[in-house]
Amino acid sequence: MRRKIVAGNWKMNNTFQNAEDLLDELVDSLANEQEDQDVEVVVCPPFLYAEMALDMSTDDEDASQPQVFYSVGVQNVSEYEKGAYTGEISAGMLASMNVEYCIVGHSERRKYFGETDSQVARKVEQLLQNAITPIVCCGEQEADREAGNQFEVVGRQLKEGLFHLKPLDFSRLIIAYEPVWAIGTGKTATPEQAQEMHAFIRGLVQEQYGKEIARVVPVLYGGSCNAKTAKDLFAMPDIDGGLIGGASLDARDFVAIINSFEK
Ligand code: PGA
Repeated sequence: MRRKIVAGNWKMNNTFQNAEDLLDELVDSLANEQEDQDVEVVVCPPFLYAEMALDMSTDDEDASQPQVFYSVGVQNVSEYEKGAYTGEISAGMLASMNVEYCIVGHSERRKYFGETDSQVARKVEQLLQNAITPIVCCGEQEADREAGNQFEVVGRQLKEGLFHLKPLDFSRLIIAYEPVWAIGTGKTATPEQAQEMHAFIRGLVQEQYGKEIARVVPVLYGGSCNAKTAKDLFAMPDIDGGLIGGASLDARDFVAIINSFEK
């Protein structure tokens, strides 16, 4: 059985107060409504709120058995280790705060900040060296799909961003397929379209790293995934969960997505 994972990408949303309220509500909903404790829940707030998110992620009423409701991730990391890089945050800093996951190569970073596959590769290396799990995004633009180039585009992103890794390192990451035309548009990929790409991704991983790693690597779907569409997407054999943007800003919607795996 592969891991089941739902990660929320808050993007650049929420004031400190809103963030605290949302986390409060989320903890409450997860404590009362999460149906399957095997689903790994990850919350990726803006950096500034990571410490608060970490503090609120556990209930240590019973200190010998603290209950962990979700893990904390962030949305970006520096490709550099340390030093004179004004405004950057390193993987080492994240690790020192117990951040466990980090999104890398999101299409918004590629589009608005010019993030390249080689930067993705360096960021992934920094994260792995610091024992943080990278959630690496890939996905084609609408024009790529219209031209029938979606497999080539996604294949290139994976090869250039990830396939230089040693098998043991590769086996520690999570892939998120996010067709750019589906992100924030309300246009979810059909379960069949997503499944086709997820199977393609798993096939590439198999060619590069062999059957066992391909069998276990989690591949999440992202792009207008919501409480209505998650169930059919998560029922697909190669879809292991979701990377959720807009719907992760509402605790009830997010928990409904977490509860969308087949029982
Ligand atoms: P969305 O974003 O769910 O709002 O489409 C997903 C993402 O960008 O990770």
